[in-house]
Amino acid sequence: MIDLKHISVVFEKDRKRFTAVDDVSLKVDEGDVFGIVGYSGAGKSTLVRTINLLQPPTSGEVIVSGEDLTKLPVKELRQRRKKIGMIFQHFNLMNARTILGNVLYPLKDSKLSDADKEKKAMDLLRLVGIEEKAHSYPRELSGGQKQRVAIARALANDPKILLCDEATSALDPRTTTSILHLLKRLNKEMNLTIVLITHEMQAVKEICNKVAVMESGRVVESGSLIDIFANPQEEITQQFVNTASHWDETIDKLKDHGYFNADDPTSELIHLRYIGASATNPVLNDVFTKFHVKTNILSGSIEFLEDVPFGNLVVLFEGSPDAIKQAKQYMIDQNVDLRVVDKEVI
Ligand SMILES: Nc1ncnc2c1ncn2[C@@H]1O[C@H](COP(=O)(O)OP(=O)(O)O)[C@@H](O)[C@H]1O
Ligand SMILES: [Mg+2]
Repeated sequence: MIDLKHISVVFEKDRKRFTAVDDVSLKVDEGDVFGIVGYSGAGKSTLVRTINLLQPPTSGEVIVSGEDLTKLPVKELRQRRKKIGMIFQHFNLMNARTILGNVLYPLKDSKLSDADKEKKAMDLLRLVGIEEKAHSYPRELSGGQKQRVAIARALANDPKILLCDEATSALDPRTTTSILHLLKRLNKEMNLTIVLITHEMQAVKEICNKVAVMESGRVVESGSLIDIFANPQEEITQQFVNTASHWDETIDKLKDHGYFNADDPTSELIHLRYIGASATNPVLNDVFTKFHVKTNILSGSIEFLEDVPFGNLVVLFEGSPDAIKQAKQYMIDQNVDLRVVDKEVI
């Protein structure tokens, strides 16, 4: 659906060249909710703006539905752009127009009759749950309501793709969740392909099926949501995953409260991550029966990533150093992903 090939964007300022996007290749399939995460300045907005050529790339190809947009004449590009909606952090509504007027605006060149345009705009406002505000002005709406209007407006020309640039970053957590659920519903019901840029990993976790992590203009890691959460490779990906799960904080608290002493060779604090609800229970039992290592679960949770159970356990292993070593090796052989707090894994 979207195939970015070797995209670079170089800005020139005061005769200095600055590479904001550095040779990024990325594929988004139809029906994806594709998250792009990174810290501020990573190049996320610049990259996503190349998808509708709001930001022409310095080099590279922007292939959308099989066509290289960078090669299209202006008039055709304008047509294609209508099929790519976009929403922003600060909503960008027109304050002098009513809510209905805002949603009607992108239909101004449409061939529909005035009555049909209005019907369509009202249907869209109903779809996003805000039809009762049709005759209000943006200043009378909350942030979440404004973002709903912006979504209705972005859908006016029946786009196949919706680009969301920090669309929930100005919203409180509960409103964020409601907007994310709306986006997911549109993704499912209308088969809308969504590219979601954010610095909040929690948002990615709630609705994305794929993730790319950006740093200094590059995509440093990408994969399915589950791969990224269960097995993050890069340091920065691990940081983002941690912000959405707080396991490091939990472990720090357990250490602060004396649950674990790094100098004691007969106990180790181990963080297990696993996919599937019950996979580690038998393994933990085996650890006791096979190696006489006691396991004490200090903290644990199961959450669902795209309906797949994803478990985290913090377990204190107690036994002789040699037995603990064998127990860990056994778990690794059973494909359990484990991290030993403050020590090497083996
Ligand atoms: N029009 C521009 N001219 C010069 N530099 C820019 C321009 N747009 C963005 N940049 C720079 O490119 C880098 C990436 O910006 P941006 O894509 O907005 O990052 P992000 O969205 O990840 O925060 C930043 O250092 C920013 O200052
Ligand atoms: Mg940005």
